Amino acid sequence: MIKPVILMGSGGHAKVLAAMLKKLDCPVLGVTGPALAEGGEVFGFPVLGGDNAIANFPPDRIELVNGLGSLPRDQGLRQRLFEQFHARGYAFKTLVDPTAMLAGDVVLGEGVQVMAGVIIQAGTQIANNVIVNSGAIIEHDCSIGCHNHIAPGAVLCGAVITGDNVHIGSGAVVIQGCSLGAGCIVGAGSVLTTSIAGRHIVYPPRSIIKNLERD
Ligand SMILES: CC(C)(COP(=O)(O)OP(=O)(O)OC[C@H]1O[C@@H](n2cnc3c(N)ncnc32)[C@H](O)[C@@H]1OP(=O)(O)O)[C@@H](O)C(=O)NCCC(=O)NCCS
Repeated sequence: MIKPVILMGSGGHAKVLAAMLKKLDCPVLGVTGPALAEGGEVFGFPVLGGDNAIANFPPDRIELVNGLGSLPRDQGLRQRLFEQFHARGYAFKTLVDPTAMLAGDVVLGEGVQVMAGVIIQAGTQIANNVIVNSGAIIEHDCSIGCHNHIAPGAVLCGAVITGDNVHIGSGAVVIQGCSLGAGCIVGAGSVLTTSIAGRHIVYPPRSIIKNLERD
């Protein structure tokens, strides 16, 4: 039997997840969030109140959906939410958009969210609470650590290995065989051709902007 879910969060990422949950015909009990008071609707689902409203539902009867987005320098909150509620016995639903293409042997951890148009190839493993965002490509034999955000349109060539809490920005390319230590950030549009140790940030070359009226 499919357990009903509670969607945590009411921002942009939660909005996209709400649309996916509708597409998947997944029963949704309601939405929670720190700034939400009980009553009314958001995304067409009832507002249950703050995250403490989840305690009204026994952990064996429901699953949670982590609707917090993940910005490069602020991944802690999404991780904390996952760990706090996990410690209380709640499970996070793993979601795969119907338009994503996954090889048969891909392994997805708890609470992984695979968004629209994603491709994940053979031999890849993705750990808990990862977002693989719209249109990202994760090639064969990659190993993705917990709480990563692979942002829209990023491309991980084969056998890329990431530690926990890595953010790979929109449109970035990570060349095959690179490994990235925990907490690394790869800026949007970067091309990473070498492995990097933990807690490094990669900036791409920046675009030249000219004023057409003046230059
Ligand atoms: C790389 C990144 C994390 C940098 O964050 P930051 O260190 O806070 O960057 P800042 O805004 O302080 O910028 C520092 C400098 O780097 C430049 N810079 C920042 N990001 C850049 C990028 N992606 N490409 C080129 N230059 C960039 C800034 O223009 C700034 O230059 P300045 O010092 O001459 O003014 C961020 O810009 C980025 O790429 N984030 C990923 C976004 C993303 O994937 N979003 C997905 C949402 S679903």
